[in-house]
Amino acid sequence: MGVTRDFFIAMSKNQLLNSGAKKWGLKLGASKMVAGTDIDSMMKSVKELNSMKISATIDNLGEFVYSREEATAAKEDIINTIEAIQEHGVDAHMSIKLTQIGLDIDYDFSLENIREIAAAAEKYDIFINLDMEDYAHLQQTLDILTALRKDYPNVGTVIQAYLYRSEKDLERLDDVRLRLVKGAYKEIPDVSLQSKQDIDENFLKLIKIRLLGKAFTSIATHDHNIINEVKKFVEENNIPHDRFEFQMLYGFRTEMQKELAAEGYAFTTYVPYGKDWYAYFMRRLAERPQNINLALRSMVSK
Ligand code: FDA
Repeated sequence: MGVTRDFFIAMSKNQLLNSGAKKWGLKLGASKMVAGTDIDSMMKSVKELNSMKISATIDNLGEFVYSREEATAAKEDIINTIEAIQEHGVDAHMSIKLTQIGLDIDYDFSLENIREIAAAAEKYDIFINLDMEDYAHLQQTLDILTALRKDYPNVGTVIQAYLYRSEKDLERLDDVRLRLVKGAYKEIPDVSLQSKQDIDENFLKLIKIRLLGKAFTSIATHDHNIINEVKKFVEENNIPHDRFEFQMLYGFRTEMQKELAAEGYAFTTYVPYGKDWYAYFMRRLAERPQNINLALRSMVSK
């Protein structure tokens, strides 16, 4: 699978294809994993999810932000999405990557941008999640979180179970709403666990620490073994269902998403949308061979 993975990762970084794709609209079966290129089509998907008691965390897709103009445009798109959540009256919040609004250009500039976004979200009591990117951006993301939360407490972030430091970060952030994940990036052994078994064990350990704590936790995984362990732990420890939720990506294990919501678990689907769909879609294909089949099936059934 290494060659296929490398192929799709390389495709995800191809700037010619990325900029071409912005003009094409959703192609190659991407509509299975991306909820449209504009607000109206995304809102249709969110309303459908809401009708099944599933909330949404919306990611306004954006890649390769190298200029202040691009970062400012991304910030404005995100604020428009927040306004649309309010106008459409949907049950949804935002997931944001700080590099999209200028973290790689200038720390203070990205902090100003996220402040504006957080102020817009606060008006409507909409939660903002700072997605966690690779290790090189972790400390800056946590610093921005701390700075922001002084004025906007309705902001949280993500803790990645593959990192050695995560247990400490988790303890420090015990009053912050957090999403727990296994971790999506390739990190070096100096900073991160490498084997699936070690990562899974640490993931469960962190989940249990959080569930016994006081703040709200999102458990973001498609792994049924983890989900079953969580269900058992919650039952055994009488943890109320309003203290946590499960999260999965749009288009992944759709039946299981509906089942968990129908069983009475709080559930949120991560809903990516926007013209910049191509790199996100290629990374999902790189992650999991079965996703290629899913995309191909939807291409031939069109
Ligand atoms: P993993 O990929 O380890 O799969 C475990 C097992 O589950 C598989 O062996 C298979 O049996 C089953 N399975 C998994 N996917 C399946 C599918 N589609 N169909 C059927 N069976 C399947 N990462 C990050 O670094 N920063 C972030 O901010 C986020 N944010 C985020 C939000 C949300 C909502 C999700 C779901 C994930 C993230 N991630 C993330 C990504 C995360 O770190 C991780 O890389 C992926 O979720 C893959 O790990 P899983 O826990 O899903 O299981």
